[in-house]
Amino acid sequence: MTRTVVRGGLVVTAAEEVHADVLVENGRVEALATPDSQQWTADRVIDATGKYVVPGGVDAHTHMEFPFGGTASSDTFETGTKAAAWGGTTTIIDFAVQSKGAALREGLDAWHAKADGRCAIDYAFHMIVSDVNESTLKEMDGLVGEGVTSFKLFMAYPGVFYSDDGQILRAMQRAGDNGGLIMMHAENGIAIDVLVQQALERGQADPRYHGEVRKALLEAEATHRAIKLAQVAGAPLYVVHVSAREAVAELTRARSEGLPVFGETCPQYLFLSTDNLAEPGFEGAKYVCSTPLRPKEHQAALWHGLRANDLQVVSTDHCPFCFTGQKELGRGDFSKIPNGMPGVENRMDLLHQAVVDGHLTRRRWIEIACATPARMFGLYPKKGTIAPGSDADLVIYDPHAEQTVSAATHHMNVDYSAYEGRRLTGRVETVLSRGEPVITAREFTGRDGHGAYTPRGTCQYLN
Ligand code: URP
Ligand code: ZN
Ligand code: ZN
Repeated sequence: MTRTVVRGGLVVTAAEEVHADVLVENGRVEALATPDSQQWTADRVIDATGKYVVPGGVDAHTHMEFPFGGTASSDTFETGTKAAAWGGTTTIIDFAVQSKGAALREGLDAWHAKADGRCAIDYAFHMIVSDVNESTLKEMDGLVGEGVTSFKLFMAYPGVFYSDDGQILRAMQRAGDNGGLIMMHAENGIAIDVLVQQALERGQADPRYHGEVRKALLEAEATHRAIKLAQVAGAPLYVVHVSAREAVAELTRARSEGLPVFGETCPQYLFLSTDNLAEPGFEGAKYVCSTPLRPKEHQAALWHGLRANDLQVVSTDHCPFCFTGQKELGRGDFSKIPNGMPGVENRMDLLHQAVVDGHLTRRRWIEIACATPARMFGLYPKKGTIAPGSDADLVIYDPHAEQTVSAATHHMNVDYSAYEGRRLTGRVETVLSRGEPVITAREFTGRDGHGAYTPRGTCQYLN
């Protein structure tokens, strides 16, 4: 195995920032040392002078090849993991899906078949449970044992993924017993469907009405209900894609009461708003996702939540649908626009921009994008940090490079960028995945099938 030294960079982890050389051997970090204090011999030397050396990003919420809204998300595991690597992410946790009436095992096997041999970076799975019943509950125990330790439930999408409160309570009780973590899509889908019908009857069919009917109060109500159900079940709870300030307030209150409740937000809620949903023509369809984008005023609460640790993780909820042929399914009826946005390639850069803009410190950037998602989903310290014994998932990051985000230059398999034309300071230069160069000085040097399935332990924030 090649021995690599990354020389002269500023190593930034969630815990510290230190000028250090990093020795990589057998795909792992072997040692760190102050610059030039060691005369390490190496087959490969990477000069990181003037650059940051950060852990590869851990994106804990992606949907590759995800069947949804009468179509499927446009990134395959091959294209999506390459794009992730370009953006400095070296691990994704994707969602395997249980079809209604089928076993969890069937869904998980199907997702393994999609990903096996195709990924450029390492990957793991959560399980979407869309049919909570006696046999599903039993299967959850087995999945925890084999490294699928988190289960997404939906309070939204009646008739598709929706679980009622009784089903949610039962799944939470099971997770409370078997060490699993329930991830909740917290929106009151029953009430939202009424508002959708009423809006359409009024002739309000444009994309912006997607944001209007999926009310912040209905995200807050569902978040509150999920917290109380988890409390009754004695289970931890992770609320995905939090976008409303009222929902953040629910998490803040629960955490101040000492409950094991965690929250994730996504770059689209931090950087975009209902102004995008209201873009003229049908352009707003590009920004249709659920929970929806909110008015700009909500962003301050999200940034504050991230700083105060009421929100712990920023994932992408990467679920791309092309504008042409996919988003267009909802012309004339916003409820038929496939829900989801691209972003797996942009997350590390957008969050670095948040450092430049003063929203976050450098270490908090790494904490919310690498270390905490790894800990939350049982991958730390293999992933999420740079320390002896950790996988050598390293990003050489140029904090001074300027870039303009564009669909013309991105690598995601989608025909638009949600951040088109946005100027960012900072850019990924080189990426190692378990010591192997995947991106080398902004050339793709990886290969399909390098990425390995990575079974996970249970949440490391619980005793
Ligand atoms: O709009 C979204 N978020 N699409 C992906 C599915 C989900 O709810 O996470
Ligand atoms: Zn969701
Ligand atoms: Zn999602």
